[in-house]
Amino acid sequence: MLETADQPIIPHLTEEHRQLQRLVREFAQREIAPIAGALDESGEFPTDTIRKLGAMGLMGIEVAEEYGGAGMDTLAYALAMIEIAKADASHSTIISVNNSLYCHALDRFGTEAQKQRYLVPVASGEKIAAYSLTEPMSGSDAGTMASRAVLDESGKYYVINGRKSWVTSAPVADVVLLFTMTDPALKHKGVSAFLIDTDRPGFMRGKTEPKLGIRASATSEIVFEDYRCPVENRLGAPGDGFKIAMTVLDAGRIGIAAQALGIAEAAYEAALTYARQRHAFGSPIGSFQMIQQKIADMKTRIEASRLLIYQACAAKERSKLTGERYTTEASMAKLFASETAAFVTDETLQIHGGMGYSKELPIERYYRDARITRIYEGTSEIQRMVIARHELSLR
Ligand code: CAA
Repeated sequence: MLETADQPIIPHLTEEHRQLQRLVREFAQREIAPIAGALDESGEFPTDTIRKLGAMGLMGIEVAEEYGGAGMDTLAYALAMIEIAKADASHSTIISVNNSLYCHALDRFGTEAQKQRYLVPVASGEKIAAYSLTEPMSGSDAGTMASRAVLDESGKYYVINGRKSWVTSAPVADVVLLFTMTDPALKHKGVSAFLIDTDRPGFMRGKTEPKLGIRASATSEIVFEDYRCPVENRLGAPGDGFKIAMTVLDAGRIGIAAQALGIAEAAYEAALTYARQRHAFGSPIGSFQMIQQKIADMKTRIEASRLLIYQACAAKERSKLTGERYTTEASMAKLFASETAAFVTDETLQIHGGMGYSKELPIERYYRDARITRIYEGTSEIQRMVIARHELSLR
């Protein structure tokens, strides 16, 4: 484990963290929460509020100011994600991809030229980014891909062909971090990463996914037909792609854990209010022990999730100094927080009875939005596999 004398395992919130938390909470409750229901109905991408969040520095929270970011730490990122997800999960999905999947990859693996061209405009909120690993026949088994990038005769361009699926923000993205095979014989060691400009010929947006939840976060397939990618747009060396994808997913999983906690908190607060206000058999339903048991279990799991998230944030900060991986901490936080979000939103719906099932309240939206957190950026089953392999020293 990662505890040291000078770096406790659970970080404390500094005054800067609290200020950010207040700022994001006020903005999210004032500008995002009131439109979340309508966006869920329409499935419209929230361009205006995302632009405003970008102007607040929330598209590159951990990116240094010289590269257009806010220059803050992982805990700041998690705190912002919790507050935004509490107002609307879709907004937090868009922010998580920009921050932890895209900016983190560029920050960690990009050359100076790549950072200037592809990190600065995304971290500053001017451009939207996507991260593309999954394919129709390759999800959890991320190292097997059918798409290909082949170096042309000039040696100056890769020619990319294939289809990627479930790409968050793809319908609006200006740039995509793409993982594709450059040498299939080498399996996962033959995956390379590329920075794709979506306005170049050969890049097409495919079918948009009609989703159960996070409906305002646009998701689609992307298709490459003889897309010519300059060699200088390869991120890392040929064959580095799988490790880059996995490294940034560790960061991404902390973000999804924070998102799950935000959704759970929103549901839990609604459950508390309803348990106090709703009367049955002559008493507020919160006076009944079966409701109290639900409240106690929800609260305990929420606070346990928070501690796992804070621990993962501390592990990631420490990793910046030591290079040590924080894979297990990130997977534990994501596993527990996403299962908690599913539990809390289900119990909240149950406490609300028929009203929880109605579209007149946001409860059913929380329930639908929470569901994806157990699936994307690695299913709960994959997180358990990662944690168990680590514990059994199988990796
Ligand atoms: N960091 C750095 N390196 C890592 C790593 C990590 N977290 N995990 C694995 N690696 C390295 C290993 O050390 C190994 O390196 P060597 O070849 O040098 O030995 C290599 O990667 C292969 O590792 P494994 O043998 O463990 O790989 P595997 O094929 O058994 O798969 C897995 C591992 C954990 C199952 C991985 O495939 C995985 O995480 N799958 C889930 C994929 C996923 O999360 N997809 C989400 C899509 S993105 C998304 O949802 C985003 C969105 O739109 C919001």
